[in-house]
Amino acid sequence: MTTPIIIDTDPGQDDAVAILLALASPELDVLGITTVAGNVPLATTTRNALTTVELAGVPCPVRAGCDRPMARPLRTAEHVHGETGLDGYDLPAPTTAPAEGHAVDWMIETLRAAPAPVTICPLGPLTNVGTLLDRAPDVAARIARIVLMGGAYFEVGNITPAAEFNIYVDPEAAEIVFRSGIPLTVVPLDVTHEVLTTTARTDAIEAAGRVGPAVAGWLRFFDRFDREKYGSEGGPLHDPCTIAWLLRPDLFTGREINVEIETRSDLTRGMTVADWWRVTDRAPNALFLGDVDADGVFALLTERLARL
Ligand code: RIB
Ligand code: CA
Repeated sequence: MTTPIIIDTDPGQDDAVAILLALASPELDVLGITTVAGNVPLATTTRNALTTVELAGVPCPVRAGCDRPMARPLRTAEHVHGETGLDGYDLPAPTTAPAEGHAVDWMIETLRAAPAPVTICPLGPLTNVGTLLDRAPDVAARIARIVLMGGAYFEVGNITPAAEFNIYVDPEAAEIVFRSGIPLTVVPLDVTHEVLTTTARTDAIEAAGRVGPAVAGWLRFFDRFDREKYGSEGGPLHDPCTIAWLLRPDLFTGREINVEIETRSDLTRGMTVADWWRVTDRAPNALFLGDVDADGVFALLTERLARL
């Protein structure tokens, strides 16, 4: 039995590694990749998704989605990912083009026609998914689970002192998703900051077959920012943790808790207000992950990348 998934993404080096991991894993049936504005503008995230799929050598349709948040100006993160969004390793320009049509229209058609509910893996701002649920509320019943990278509890703030980037960029979209009632797995900074691209791990990935050098180049560029910022021994491998959870949930632990999104305050915009200690009577709406076997994640990732 394979799990049908849609990857919604803003590549970004870590997004690209997540895409490679998914395409290398036979347990997953990647129905398509939808791109969103986030780390870099939409045209660039779309180009980067095409580049990544071509590097994987596994056919997978890419469609462009929303080019700005639902209710706010776009905020990008070239300071982390570089101007291309995939700085660190030069790959040829993609020879394929995005598939026809807007990503959200395709998601609506695909979910309504799917023989079984589909898992959605958002790796960037939730603009496409929030727009999807706003335009076609009926498709919520066709979504098995949303497994997203975003938010934080204890490890708050990589874009402001209160918020993680994906949620911060489009808090209104995030609020729609977190209030949708769809089963939700949240992979927050609390987990991804435990999954660090140390030199040894990156060197092992570099030796992992045909795509190893490209992935290692991306990671060595990507992790410089966090090494300097946090003084850590590597950069957090954010987005691949969502795919790793789908493949090996036993590598993670978490709690079913209530999570609300701050949308009103400028000071705490985009904060994930996670009731980790259940101090409110707000009903649980998410499996919020809190710990991870980082060595296990890297062993899985390295083994799967070597298959491409
Ligand atoms: O805060 C980390 C998240 O923001 C990751 O998904 C990264 O790719 C960026 O989108
Ligand atoms: Ca991302």
